[in-house]
Amino acid sequence: MSVRVLFVCLGNICRSPSAEAVLRQQAQAAGITLDVDSAGTGNWHVGAPPDGRSIASASRRGMDMRALRARQVCAEDFICFTHIFAMDQRNLADLQAMRPTAGVTPQLFLGCAPDAGVSEVPDPYYGGPEGFEHMLDLIEIAAKGFLQTLH
Ligand code: 4NP
Repeated sequence: MSVRVLFVCLGNICRSPSAEAVLRQQAQAAGITLDVDSAGTGNWHVGAPPDGRSIASASRRGMDMRALRARQVCAEDFICFTHIFAMDQRNLADLQAMRPTAGVTPQLFLGCAPDAGVSEVPDPYYGGPEGFEHMLDLIEIAAKGFLQTLH
């Protein structure tokens, strides 16, 4: 069965599109085929590209996020995807509240990286550029842990 991963954060302009880009990059490098997408629990940025700071940080690590566009998570996502990963506890609680009975169970993405020492990817939106580097560091660890579970 094909693996289809959805990452979810609040705005779908910082964390979840970054996770989408990182997992796509790592899977490609490892020769693993999977589908990956991202969405936000909120609708404020629907149709917008990722935050410029996310684009810049990802670009320095060899990823081009410029074509991504924000969308809001919907009930159908729980049927279409095999894995739904929340960036923080609030995202997870919002997903659990909207999950259809037969839908996939959402999980915290950092659950794939028990050695990371933290369980959430903090929202970098209101902070400085270092928050975006920290965000990518955490996402890279979790993406690596997730890909190892697929072997
Ligand atoms: P994200 O970050 O959830 O990682 O995309 C945010 C982006 C925008 C807002 C909050 C978080 N906002 O309030 O507009």
